Amino acid sequence: MFNKSLLNKFNSIKTPFYYYNLDILNKNISELFSSLEKTNKVHFALKSNSNKKLLKILKLSGLGIDAVSSNEIKRAIEVGFSPRDIVFAGVGKSDDEIHYALQKEISYLNCESFEEIDVINEISKNMNKIADISIRINPSIKTGTHKNIETGNKNNKFGIDLNDIGLVIERIKDLNNISVVGFHFHLGSQIDSDTPFLKLCEVANEMNDLFYEKNLIVKHINVGGGLSIDYKDPINNQVSDFKNFYKIFNQNLRLKENQNIHSELGRSIIGQCGFLVSKVLFNKKSYGRNYLIVDAGMNDLMRPALYNSFHKILNISSKILTFKKYDVVGPVCESSDVFATDYELPISSRNDIIIICSTGAYGESMSSNYNLRNSLKSYFSDSI
Ligand code: LLP
Repeated sequence: MFNKSLLNKFNSIKTPFYYYNLDILNKNISELFSSLEKTNKVHFALKSNSNKKLLKILKLSGLGIDAVSSNEIKRAIEVGFSPRDIVFAGVGKSDDEIHYALQKEISYLNCESFEEIDVINEISKNMNKIADISIRINPSIKTGTHKNIETGNKNNKFGIDLNDIGLVIERIKDLNNISVVGFHFHLGSQIDSDTPFLKLCEVANEMNDLFYEKNLIVKHINVGGGLSIDYKDPINNQVSDFKNFYKIFNQNLRLKENQNIHSELGRSIIGQCGFLVSKVLFNKKSYGRNYLIVDAGMNDLMRPALYNSFHKILNISSKILTFKKYDVVGPVCESSDVFATDYELPISSRNDIIIICSTGAYGESMSSNYNLRNSLKSYFSDSI
């Protein structure tokens, strides 16, 4: 993939920058759509990547948007998504954000507390509207993923306690300016086992029966996102296992008449097409450790510092076949500005191009200007 001509191009661009391979993105999109059954609607989790060019490609493919702030809704509308294809989640929506979502008439708001439901009812009443909402349920399921990216476990702030859903349904009956169109879950991210998703189906079926018994017939069951990608071998495993993910829900969810499945994938669609491209600044040996200091930093890619996450790293300049173990670090004034420790790379020298793989999701979108560093530009395989 990183051939001589691409290397020459990379050498002519000021590093660091994000590079997106659109073939990988398109392969994921087509695999995703070939794994869906007709009534399954997918909302792309915009928080994973809000790059306008990529969003336009996702829009053309027929995806909707899962937003978590009114600015994300704005961004989606700006690049051409219809408000009817946008859903809005988040434990702490401000009154202004709720107002904006209702004014734009997005598809529905995922509500995460009793108080939020009341406030949405109040705001929509003042706007003379009926708000379509979905109830986000915390199913109390462990996922085995990193604790900072687990969301559906009982000690997480997200969703409404499973045991309170009966009460929620009673409460909703007194509210005239909301209409419940669905219920929603999101277990967490980078989940690499089927078990949590199978458990989710059990809970969703129970909830569906409960809503049904109480005469609340919802249209959508939203199972959230969380499908993992292969960080260890991204070059050989570029396409996510959407087939297996959707098979679990298609086979195990007991849908009532006219119900359909919604999902909100981010990482599995966009993760493998992104690469953070940087250059070696310096080599340094200190107290027995070999530091490879590159010009990208933790502000450009937060994941290793935040979650201790593994990303495959390549030196695409080096022709040397001798390998050495490096601590690959950035220039930011923080000891956690480390992309990898004891990482085996070909002997690397100043100005070599170093690629950090699988950075399409939660890379650019989580970057900051800490240390007053520049925002990174992004380049695309069709125009570089
Ligand atoms: N739906 C909701 C309500 C979410 O909160 C998320 C992600 C998704 C869907 C999409 O999840 P995905 O399919 O991408 O796993 N910054 C972390 C990940 C945080 C995920 C936040 N929520 C990371 O870099 O690993």
